[in-house]
Amino acid sequence: MCGIVGYIGTQKASPILINGLIRLEYRGYDSAGISTIEKYGISIMKDKGRVKNLYNINGIEQLEGNIGIAHTRWATHGKPSKENSHPHMDNSKTFSVVHNGIIENYNELKKFLSDNGYHFYSQTDTEIIPNLVHYYYSKDNNNDDLKFLRAFKNACNKLIGSFAIEIICKDYPNNMLVVRKDSPLVIGKGENENYISSDIPAILSFTRNFYLLNDFEFVLLSRTDAKFYDKNLEPINKNTQTIEWNTASAEKEGFEDYMLKEIFEQPNAIRETIGAKFNENSKCEFDELNFSKDFLSDFNKIFIIGCGTAMHAGLAGKNAIEKLCKINTEVDIASEFRYRAPLVNEHTLCIFISQSGETADTIAALKLCKEKGAKTIAISNVIGSSITREADYSIYTHAGPEIAVASTKAYTSQVVLLVILAIYFAEILEINTNELSLLKKEILKLPKKIEDTLDLSSRIRDFSKTVYQEKDIFFLGRGIDETVAKEGSLKLKEISYIHSESYAAGELKHGPIALIENGVTVVGIMTDPKLVEKTISNLQEVITRGAKTFVITNQQVDNSMFDFIVYIPETSPFISPILSIIPLQLFSYYISKEKGLDVDKPRNLAKSVTVE
Ligand code: M6R
Repeated sequence: MCGIVGYIGTQKASPILINGLIRLEYRGYDSAGISTIEKYGISIMKDKGRVKNLYNINGIEQLEGNIGIAHTRWATHGKPSKENSHPHMDNSKTFSVVHNGIIENYNELKKFLSDNGYHFYSQTDTEIIPNLVHYYYSKDNNNDDLKFLRAFKNACNKLIGSFAIEIICKDYPNNMLVVRKDSPLVIGKGENENYISSDIPAILSFTRNFYLLNDFEFVLLSRTDAKFYDKNLEPINKNTQTIEWNTASAEKEGFEDYMLKEIFEQPNAIRETIGAKFNENSKCEFDELNFSKDFLSDFNKIFIIGCGTAMHAGLAGKNAIEKLCKINTEVDIASEFRYRAPLVNEHTLCIFISQSGETADTIAALKLCKEKGAKTIAISNVIGSSITREADYSIYTHAGPEIAVASTKAYTSQVVLLVILAIYFAEILEINTNELSLLKKEILKLPKKIEDTLDLSSRIRDFSKTVYQEKDIFFLGRGIDETVAKEGSLKLKEISYIHSESYAAGELKHGPIALIENGVTVVGIMTDPKLVEKTISNLQEVITRGAKTFVITNQQVDNSMFDFIVYIPETSPFISPILSIIPLQLFSYYISKEKGLDVDKPRNLAKSVTVE
């Protein structure tokens, strides 16, 4: 959702800004714009549509300024249009602003500003920001170096909602200001230059040294410096952190799409996420956690919370924690959990999963649990992301940057990390110790087994060509396989726009079977030996009603009744989702390609959902 880029240095800013916006395209957007400080004042070039449309704007090639801000907008307040695109200026054209997030009290502030003579030309909440800054700026008679910063701080202290803001001012042609609250923003430090972005990959090719911002930290940037202030403008010390991702990890590296590349990166993502947490003969250890038996025994309930795919990974975590640790575990969707008065207290452990670490609902649910006295663990793929700074403890998947909107390697990395976490808990609690060493051996074999599963790619591509025009596709499974059915169905609808539902196979007869008619495709996942026969019976019921079936299994089953079957390597049911989802990721991918769709940037979706 909305992307921000900024540059202040010695090079021409506009190409750097546009390049950064292109790298943020995956976040989802409908319009784009840049603003630079030129000799004659502030320039703004913006339009609805793709970032590359900016090149068609008259005069963009002539921009010389080496300070600038840029934005991709995902419409919330006001339709996608040139007027509503960012950057926005104040009435006097002194300030130019880009903003991610939502200003919840913008109607009230708009009225206040209108009453004070300000006019508005867009339907956005953002346009109040430069005008409010101007309001405070015009009231300040002290023309010192910090006047711009003071006006910005006063304006931001009036904002309610979430925001990441960059602002430039024509009276301060060597500075830029930024701030964030509940919306991502990082500063990349270069040699005599600073880069700003809502996401690390957009500026990874320029620097690996980043300042990570906390809420309400104001940054005064010059070419050579970054000065940090708290909300009262007291100076703060901050050091850079080095990000280990390499530049190539944010490139396609010869793959047609990021999604395909990320599917094929899964052996390595899993290897990196397992890291050195255990080997065949050692106990699991997390450097970031140092839990004792007393500490863990104090919890009578665990919640696992996330959205979309992250929540689906949580279902595999629940399966592992309940079976291995015997602790009652509930999984919930963050947007539901936060509004349902959950029963959480100091004896509850809450685990939050978010690839980006910036999902608004997940962060809000985390804050709620902290208020209620629960202990919190964040699982994220992005070091220093908001969720990791809020939680009591943070552990990381090491999947590398995930650019495609449809999550693949982040999901499998989350599943493996949750299962390792469950083993870690069980070892501390001294439960199920025999089962644990077998499971650990299986986890260590996963990278090779994922490689073997990826070998199914061309068969799945050929099958996908036979079903890409379907209107509805159903996914069935039982137990752990039902969690994969959910994720497979989500993947398909996200990138192929085919209507799809997933069901617990045993639920079919209670309603959904009414939807099955001649020619409908049903995907069955069957990896749990205890449940295979039961799922086969359910598949027989749909076959009898004319369904076409695609089966994913690691069991020796009579394949004569199915239209298409793929065999994946056998493994422990705790980690089987990591293998059984791969054919479904490929299935969705190839259907989307066959339909000629934009696999990496599906319509209406954003990679990082930073508003609720
Ligand atoms: O960054 P997060 O893991 O918090 O994102 C959560 C969901 O928005 C995300 O998993 C979404 O469902 C994906 N597009 C699924 O492919």
